Parts: sequence; structure tokens; C-alpha cells
Amino acid sequence: MRRIITYGTFDLLHYGHIRLLQRCKEQGDYLVVALSTDEFNAGKGKKSYFSFEDRKRMLEAIRYVDLVIPEENWEQKADDVDRYHIDVFVMGDDWEGKFDELQEHCEVVYLPRTPEISTTQIKTDLSTK
Ligand code: CTP
Repeated sequence: MRRIITYGTFDLLHYGHIRLLQRCKEQGDYLVVALSTDEFNAGKGKKSYFSFEDRKRMLEAIRYVDLVIPEENWEQKADDVDRYHIDVFVMGDDWEGKFDELQEHCEVVYLPRTPEISTTQIKTDLSTK
């Protein structure tokens, strides 16, 4: 059993998120998504449209996702990798190089982002139409 983990907010779920989760799952057999909590986002000055609970329920309904856990701080990743027996840590390449120190704990993979779609882009487009 090869276990994968990825992190994110996944607000206003879109096809860029789905493709990322699909490609995460293709790296192994069991996918854990660490989902940013509303409090963690507030600390970064971000506010999602959907609450943590709603974002969590949507992720849990996706066939590629096996488990959703809260992401509450920047420091938890190494602990998560150990606790959930993770083999591969995956992020979109907007984070390229940022988490290489986790290579002491597991494989680290950065996947290319899907072009021309993001939560920010959706919000901008809807507010200007
Ligand atoms: N992602 C992706 N392709 C996109 C958008 C997101 O592969 N077009 C990936 C990110 O690289 C990340 C995960 O999906 O690994 C969750 O990204 P998140 O930041 O929640 O979504 P964004 O749409 O990038 O949101 P924002 O605009 O708020 O940054």
C-alpha cells in the first residue's frame, strides 16, 4: 500500500483541484488530503468562501480521496507523514522546492498546475462580470 498526502484549501472546488487529486492518487493507493482550516487561513490573511466543514464534505465525496485531515499549521507536515505512514508528499508546482526538507521522511513530488484556473481567478471573473 503506497500512501500519498497533499495539502491545500480547495475552496470553490474546480477542475484544477480534481485533476491534481486524480494525479495524486495515481502516485499510489491511498490519498490523504490535509485541508486548511478556517483558522489557519485566517492567520494567512485568507478567507475561503466555503467553510472547512463544507470543503471537507466535498473532498470526501471525491473518489480519489480516502481521508481528509485538518491542516492547522505550517509545521505539522513531518508529523503527518509519520503518523499516516506516508510514502509520497505531493503538491502543485506553485510550491516547487518549498518542501524539499521532507525528503528525509518520504518522496516529494511537485505536479504541474492545470493552466488558467484557480479559486482566485473564479472569484475575480465572477466579480467583474
Ligand atoms: N492546483 C492545480 N491546478 C490549478 C489550481 C490548483 O494543480 N489550476 C493545485 C495546487 O497546486 C494545490 C492544490 O491544487 O496543490 C490546492 O490548491 P489551492 O491553493 O487550494 O487552489 P487554488 O485554485 O490555487 O487557490 P488560490 O487561487 O486561492 O491560490
